Amino acid sequence: MRKITQSNLEAAFAGESQAHMKYLIFATQAEREYPNLARLYRAIAFAEQVHATNHFRVLGHIGSAAENAQTAIEGETFEVEEMYPAYYEVAKLQEEKNAQRTTNWALEAEKGHAVLYGSALESVKKGKDPAFGTIHVCMICGYTVDGEAPDECPVCRAKKDKFKAF
Ligand code: FE2
Ligand code: FE2
Ligand code: FE2
Repeated sequence: MRKITQSNLEAAFAGESQAHMKYLIFATQAEREYPNLARLYRAIAFAEQVHATNHFRVLGHIGSAAENAQTAIEGETFEVEEMYPAYYEVAKLQEEKNAQRTTNWALEAEKGHAVLYGSALESVKKGKDPAFGTIHVCMICGYTVDGEAPDECPVCRAKKDKFKAF
């Protein structure tokens, strides 16, 4: 692909991805008072996902199951080893308490994501679907665990009822 087209599609993918997430967050916010508005946000969030997927495919970023798991591991590992430690230190330096908390929570949760994708990759390499149980995610910090939710989230201390099951 020509270079400018490639960087344009990368930028479009990033923008569509952000719009998708933004609209889902807005939908959750609107849900109680404005259910039809919430529905519109969810519908358009899905449309943006379609756009993001189309660009992503044209960019050639969709691989085999093993390649995709490898890509996922690399993304999570980058966040754990470089991105969030650096962001956290800057937030600390600037005494931005809320940013310190959210970057630290994300950093801790991403460690688990990298591990889970690692075990998934091992399985996929053998052509087997990974044998996960119910996966639980802390709705407060994003800590993710395979199997039963803990009584207290090890990252943010939220109680068991704050875990969402997948
Ligand atoms: Fe779009
Ligand atoms: Fe993650
Ligand atoms: Fe948590």
